[in-house]
Amino acid sequence: MSSLTRTSQHLAAVFACFYFLKGATGIVDSTPCDRLTKPTIPGATVISIQSQHLPNTSVLASPPLLNINVTGLDICNVDVVLSHQSSNDTVKVKVWLPSAGWNGRFLGTGGSGYAAGFFELSLAPVVALGYAAASTDAGLAGDPYSPAAWALDAQGNVNSDLLLNFASRSVHDMAVAGKAIATQYYGKKPHHSYWNGCSTGGRQGLMAAQTHPEDFDGIVAGAPAIDWARYVIAEQWPQVVMREEGFHSGRCLLQAFTNASISACDSLDGLTDGIISNPRSCKFDPYTMVGWDFQCEDGQKETVTPKIASMLAKIVAGPKGLAVTHKYALNAGAALDSLANTTTDSDGNTIGYPFFVNDAWIRYFVKKDPGFDTTTVGYASFAQLFNASQREYGALIGGYNPDLSRFRAAGGKAIVGHGEADQLIFPAGTVEYHRMVERVVGRGNASSVAGFYRTFLAPGVDHCGAGALTGASPGAVPVDPLAAVVAWVENGIAPDVLDARIQSVRDDGAVVTKTRNLCPFPLRSRYRGGDAVAEGSYVCA
Ligand SMILES: *[C@@H]1O[C@H](CO)[C@@H](O)[C@H](O)[C@H]1NC(C)=O
Ligand SMILES: *[C@@H]1O[C@H](CO)[C@@H](O)[C@H](O)[C@H]1NC(C)=O
Ligand SMILES: *[C@@H]1O[C@H](CO)[C@@H](O)[C@H](O)[C@H]1NC(C)=O
Ligand SMILES: *[C@@H]1O[C@H](CO)[C@@H](O)[C@H](O)[C@H]1NC(C)=O
Ligand SMILES: *[C@@H]1O[C@H](CO)[C@@H](O)[C@H](O)[C@H]1NC(C)=O
Ligand SMILES: *[C@@H]1O[C@H](CO)[C@@H](O)[C@H](O)[C@H]1NC(C)=O
Ligand SMILES: *[C@@H]1O[C@H](CO)[C@@H](O)[C@H](O)[C@H]1NC(C)=O
Repeated sequence: MSSLTRTSQHLAAVFACFYFLKGATGIVDSTPCDRLTKPTIPGATVISIQSQHLPNTSVLASPPLLNINVTGLDICNVDVVLSHQSSNDTVKVKVWLPSAGWNGRFLGTGGSGYAAGFFELSLAPVVALGYAAASTDAGLAGDPYSPAAWALDAQGNVNSDLLLNFASRSVHDMAVAGKAIATQYYGKKPHHSYWNGCSTGGRQGLMAAQTHPEDFDGIVAGAPAIDWARYVIAEQWPQVVMREEGFHSGRCLLQAFTNASISACDSLDGLTDGIISNPRSCKFDPYTMVGWDFQCEDGQKETVTPKIASMLAKIVAGPKGLAVTHKYALNAGAALDSLANTTTDSDGNTIGYPFFVNDAWIRYFVKKDPGFDTTTVGYASFAQLFNASQREYGALIGGYNPDLSRFRAAGGKAIVGHGEADQLIFPAGTVEYHRMVERVVGRGNASSVAGFYRTFLAPGVDHCGAGALTGASPGAVPVDPLAAVVAWVENGIAPDVLDARIQSVRDDGAVVTKTRNLCPFPLRSRYRGGDAVAEGSYVCA
């Protein structure tokens, strides 16, 4: 202990001397890790800063947030606590700075569900690549599954300061803090700044481009949870249908339906590989399943009745009575058992089990009543909820403003990705947003939008590609979209394709690696013959 203290005092003295010499020559100074001072954050008060050199830090895998063990990081760990003037919030920002081998870049990392960020789980893999990176809790409790700890204040009103943090404010604060701290530590500004996030993280990235277009030069936004105030309500739709139609399907029926859709449309792309390449061309009619018997894993047999087929048709069609229904429907081939999930009650009945994101959003934010039972929502109250959510929160957390002209003017580049078999967030919303950007920023000129904003749809990939690791989804996932956006920003190399890859284990135990090019929307990758697992067998058309 005492020898450690002596060492750091000695180092401090060396650094102080270094500081003096450099100061005398007018060069910007670097600051030793343990001497970093509070950054200035407009609109906020920095309560504290703590920084510490950690020469040998490891972060263990915690799927699906971190899938690898990251070991032996030599970093400066910085913890900043801030509060917004006139808001009663306490926001933590964690910044990790590589002690050696900094690549000169700053990277903001995003969250998932109701969490704005995951600190070391998000930071470790990118700091290992040389980025100075930051993550924030936005002043929320950090539970991705529930906003219960922060949504409502003691009077039962929505905590609008914290909701604003969750929506967009915390990302801007983090960018300001992270860049200032990196500048102090290294003695020079990051030459470029980036964002990388999926789901809530994708929404955070696109909202940054909309609200603070100079914060990031390059943005990777996966499966973005944009249009939040509407699409989240639409996630409730399958539960609404099951309630109104008086039938709650078991998981087995839903899987059989997804399997049947895939079987029906798989070969439309010239390749029978369990993947529907263009779900929009798949018109699978659930009524063709009437009379089917199928065996479930639990040994039970089910027969598809016209009533069941009707219910499935209504679920996959998306919410009726909305002007833009198609934006809120899952693609053919996507699993239904997340949004149309069920459970068994104590009497043995199958009942609805709404997905946690829509369940909590409706209870805490729209109804402002944590005890509200979302399985009671029917067709009439669904439409009211949909309108009420958008009316109250669309502007705050929608993240659906297509005017990215300031982001483009600042030189920003964005790569947006979405799995076509996403079972939670509707890819059609991401496609629609792309079209809106083309109309508003490109004034109808798609190639001018392609100069700064590209969307890549990934066939057969589920939400944020999580299923690629577990074998649950068969599509190839982008290998390194962050490197692709860096090459675009710094070298002007626009991504004409995005390399994607998936590994699977064959029945004989051999590991097969499949590669595929993903194409910028509206192009899609088309099989032109040859080895189905090689990307050279596909062209963008
Ligand atoms: C770093 O920590 C690991 C355990 O986490 C240990 O095995 C290794 O020896 C340490 N390396 C150094 C250089 O201290
Ligand atoms: C990470 O390390 C732990 C403990 O050392 C080990 O049990 C685990 O298998 C490792 N996980 C991966 C993905 O390498
Ligand atoms: C501020 O927040 C803390 C805990 O988050 C709470 O205990 C306190 O009552 C709040 N104060 C006001 C004025 O709302
Ligand atoms: C659906 O297909 C998957 C993957 O091939 C398989 O594991 C599952 O048993 C099938 N389920 C049903 C109900 O057909
Ligand atoms: C589906 O419902 C079961 C309870 O039947 C629950 O354990 C599981 O987490 C749910 N899955 C999703 C994706 O909500
Ligand atoms: C919801 O809003 C739409 C469009 O503004 C309107 O046409 C519709 O009547 C509203 N529905 C309800 C139930 O309020
Ligand atoms: C569309 O944008 C591209 C790229 O900015 C430009 O080269 C082209 O001239 C534009 N086309 C029209 C019709 O304005």
